[in-house]
Amino acid sequence: MNGKIFITRRIFDEIVTFLESTFEVSGNPADRVLTPDELRAAAAEADGLLALLTDRIDQDLLDASPRLKVVANFAVGYNNVDIDAATARGVLITNTPGVLTDTTADFAWALLMAAARRVVEADRFVRSGRFDAWGPRMLLGHDIHHRTLGLVGMGRIGQAVARRAGGFGMKILYYDPHPVPAEALAGLDARSVTLDVLYAESDFISIHVPLVEDTHHLIDDAAFGKMKSDCVLVNTSRGPVVDETALVRALESRTIAAAGLDVYEHEPDLAPGLKALDNVVLTPHIASGSHATRMRMCQMAADNLVEALGGRQPPNLVNRDAWDRRRQ
Ligand code: DGY
Repeated sequence: MNGKIFITRRIFDEIVTFLESTFEVSGNPADRVLTPDELRAAAAEADGLLALLTDRIDQDLLDASPRLKVVANFAVGYNNVDIDAATARGVLITNTPGVLTDTTADFAWALLMAAARRVVEADRFVRSGRFDAWGPRMLLGHDIHHRTLGLVGMGRIGQAVARRAGGFGMKILYYDPHPVPAEALAGLDARSVTLDVLYAESDFISIHVPLVEDTHHLIDDAAFGKMKSDCVLVNTSRGPVVDETALVRALESRTIAAAGLDVYEHEPDLAPGLKALDNVVLTPHIASGSHATRMRMCQMAADNLVEALGGRQPPNLVNRDAWDRRRQ
């Protein structure tokens, strides 16, 4: 056996079997988020962790884990990891980019359409027996076709959301502080704008930025104040990018029309007042949750463990400096 792996939640049996062919593998049979103490105790014995975005990989854990060489995060986002602390200790961190792009983009559209056309409200309406006849003013929503989609963040997932907008004849505005390659924009009716222009001109705003210091509460009271009153906001990125209390105020006061949320500021808790609102669609962080995509993410995390513990640079290494440090 080439080391000990700890898997922090129940994953797919095939992947456990794959890892068992190389490593001594243990896991979390309770299949719940471990407490910091439980996670630290498990990590202390491990050479590698297969971790989730709900696991905090912080200085305390890293200090208590002298054997730990690699943390393979089962997610593209890695804001749950203190990257600087891991790098300083030579612990490799990997993620799962690319394989969830289209699945997440599909889901951003599912939320956009559900929120704009009041699909969840309508479902509740029918189930509660209130549908007694077709009505001219019943559950009216907002058109999607030929309107303007604003993308905050134009990386892989933002681009995939943009490509899908073509079928609806939509115009795209995007904001991204990093240059977007020309080939990613080919065939799109897309224009790079400032955030203020994006807020003022978009009918739909979908967020696709990572959670870093600069994006924390990027969408706040001031941002909502600049949006159209019929704007629909979609967030499939990270909850804290939106000030959720400000969002509740914006939805209650109809400063914006509606929202579709897959992520929350204090996940899994919701800001007071959010769940009482009819003009928001709420899902439990499942944007990447198709059978095929979750399996691919899991396999990718496992491959990263195999490579890292085999002494090779893992394909999806996030902190290159940690690799250089290990080789010194
Ligand atoms: C990620 O990968 O970062 C998602 O939030 C979970 O799929």
